Formats: sequence, structure tokens, C-alpha cells
Amino acid sequence: MAASTLAVDFGTSNSAAAFLDGTGLRRLAIEPQAETLPTAVFFPAGGGRMRIGNAAAEALIAGDDGRYMRALKSVLGTALFHEPRLIGGRRQTLSDIVTAFLSALKARAEAQAGQTFRHVLSGRPVRFHTSDPERDASAEADLRACYLAAGFDEVRFLFEPEAAALASHGLGRAGEAGLIVDIGGGTSDFTVYRAEPAGLRILASHGIRLGGTDFDHAVSMTHAMPLLGHGGTLRRSFGEGLLPVPNAIYAELATWAKIPFVYAPETRRAVADMVRHAVDPGALTRLAAVIEQQLGHELAFAVEAGKIAANGGAALGRIDMGYIEPKLSAPIGRASLDAALDGFRQRLQEAMRTTLRLADIAPDRIASVILVGGSSLMNMITAEAGAACPKAELHRSEAFTAVVDGLALATGTGFAAPA
Ligand SMILES: Nc1ncnc2c1ncn2[C@@H]1O[C@H](COP(=O)(O)OP(=O)(O)OP(=O)(O)O)[C@@H](O)[C@H]1O
Ligand SMILES: [Mg+2]
Repeated sequence: MAASTLAVDFGTSNSAAAFLDGTGLRRLAIEPQAETLPTAVFFPAGGGRMRIGNAAAEALIAGDDGRYMRALKSVLGTALFHEPRLIGGRRQTLSDIVTAFLSALKARAEAQAGQTFRHVLSGRPVRFHTSDPERDASAEADLRACYLAAGFDEVRFLFEPEAAALASHGLGRAGEAGLIVDIGGGTSDFTVYRAEPAGLRILASHGIRLGGTDFDHAVSMTHAMPLLGHGGTLRRSFGEGLLPVPNAIYAELATWAKIPFVYAPETRRAVADMVRHAVDPGALTRLAAVIEQQLGHELAFAVEAGKIAANGGAALGRIDMGYIEPKLSAPIGRASLDAALDGFRQRLQEAMRTTLRLADIAPDRIASVILVGGSSLMNMITAEAGAACPKAELHRSEAFTAVVDGLALATGTGFAAPA
């Protein structure tokens, strides 16, 4: 399958492409001067050309009129993926948009490689949806359909952490068992392997739907949304007493994939009504401004930047919200970040324990833990992975390209599962 097979890591946050070119593994610069392409699109209002990757974010930041979308992978397997909507002046589904993104990625990869690719070996999370096998199968079927519509004739999948194991098991101790911990934007994926003289042996893989976008959600709900009125109270239209401000709008605004849907006219009306009944109208007026001026993605980017800065050790950083109201910002530091993410620790521990159980291996028999994925740079992940495998040495592989490297290697070995 090697020569005309393109390896694609279609990530929730970032995508990458690579192939085996006869001399070896070659990552493709599918973004100018970069080996990763943000999985994001921008449709100018009124029907201009779709932009992808960094150009999409630039259009958003420049304030161009149009629709920006990110984290589309998390919608695979849901009804929302097939609902037609008016986006960029025409009716299209999210499935059409993912197809257009993959088709542009294919064209860029072919231009870089100087050849066409008819086959694709794509990564997929072990579970797109944690405890719903039917929805999980639909998600893979949705993604397969998008690759086919984008012009590939043959589509195969490999679990993302197994691809990462192929690329990076050499970092660990030869002959012994290791655990790949791949925490990205949307999912956490785990593989237990053994590096044997005859080659890599996969003992078990497991995954849950939890990633950096969930961390962003938690940080947003605890740090930013209170400044927009989350947790506040409303006066009743009729009768005495107070009501809590409804949670749903804040939860959507804090979810990357749902932000574009918060701008619907009925939400605007609901927020205007909330402002009229608010005990603290100032905070809800900010929420109204975010919805009216479509500032949800600016806020999400600021929250993500605040998360990364606080994780990096900033004792007290700030989430900039000055585009909503001059000088507005939410404080964030190591302690408040830890508190916001604390609830995820147990799910991560359970997932790692389950992976080891599936592999029938005791935690202290894991000699190496190899961390991949952007969110594996979170201190919480390093701490939890270390706690799950107390005797293991921790190694970092290429956070953003280990999966695509492994996929490309797999095109040459026939390692991929049958289509
Ligand atoms: N320095 C950093 N510290 C902490 N988190 C980071 C850092 N850099 C990126 N991230 C987070 O990593 C995530 C993206 O990682 P990555 O590109 O590996 O995900 P992905 O492969 O697109 O997603 P998935 O594999 O889950 O579909 C984002 O949530 C981002 O906020
Ligand atoms: Mg990934």
C-alpha cells in the first residue's frame, strides 16, 4: 500500500500528513513552513473562498465578517454532523466542511510531495465516543465518507496511540513493556506495547473522550464565564424570589465545536431577556456583547492561552477579555488551574488502569511511559501518568507529529488493520 498512500493525522486541534517516499519517512509541509495544520476553517460572509488552518484564525482575529469553526472532529458520529445550515452564504453540513478541509489537505500534500495519493491511512482515536459503540462506529463511518468524498479511493484506519507506538517505542527500554499516553485536543488514548526483537507487539489499546478542549471548557466555566454572569441570579417575571442564570448558554460558549451555534437569533433573544431580569445586569450585558459581536472564539483562544501560560508556571496570569470590555480580564494561576482540572484526574487514572488490565500487565511492570499529544504537556498529565506506572521512566516523544510519523511507517509495514 506504501507508494500512493498518504498518512493523515486528522486531529481535533491540529492535523498532519506524511508518507514514505522511498528514502524514508517524509512529513509534508501542509501549512507554509509548518508540519502541522490547525484543524480550523473560516467561511467569509457572502460566499468567498474557504480558508483553513492559520489563515482561518488570521481572518477571525482580523475581524473579517464570516464563520470560523474548530474542533470539527468532535462532532463526528452525531446528528449535528449531517444537519444542513447556512454557512458562508450557502447551505452545507459539517460533513461537507470536513470533506472540503480534507480535500484541501490532500491537494496541499500532493503539491508538496509532487505526486498524487489515492489511498489514505488515517489515525482515529480508540474511542471517538466513550461508552457508545454505535455512535463510535458512526463517527468512523462519517470520517471514512469524508475521505472518500475528498477524493481518496481507499481509506484505512489505525488507532492513534498504536501509530505513536510505532514511531516512538524506541525511546523506551528494549524488550520491556511500555505505555503510550496520547492526550490531544479531543481524546485521551493509551496503548500498552512490548518492543520485541521481531518488532513491536501491541498488547492493548483503550481511550476516552477527554482532551484539551475539555480542559479549556473547565477553565472557561470556572474563570471566564463568571465575569459574563454565570452563577448569577435573575428576578422572576412573575412572582417573588430569584432564579439561577441558566447554565446552557455558558456551557455552549465554552465548547469549541458549539460556539458558532450560540449566535442563533433565539439565543440573542434569550440573553436580552436575561439582561432585563438580571440582578447584576453588568455581567449579563457582557454576555450579550459576546453574542452580538460574535466574540466566542476570541474568548476561547484567550482561555486556551491562559491555560497554557498557567500550566507553564505563571504564578498569576490573566485571561484577556479586553475585546469584550476595556481592561476586563480573569485571573488564572497554577492553583486555580489545578482546581479547575482536578475532576479529570480520576477519569484519567481509571482509563490507564483499564488499559493495563486489558493488557494483563501490572502497573509496576511498565518500564517506560511515552507522552505524546499537545495536552500531554499539561503538568497534571505527567503527574497522573507517573502515578499510574510508578516504576516507569517518563519520555516525551514529538508531541504533535508522533502519530503521523507512525501512520506513515505503518503504510510500509502493512501494520494497519484491514479496511
Ligand atoms: N504547551 C502546551 N501546554 C499545554 N497544552 C497544550 C500546549 N500546547 C498545546 N496544548 C493543547 O494541546 C491540544 C492539542 O493537542 P494536539 O494537537 O496533540 O491534539 P489533536 O491531535 O489535534 O487532538 P486529538 O488527537 O485529540 O484529536 C490543545 O487542547 C491545546 O490547548
Ligand atoms: Mg492527536
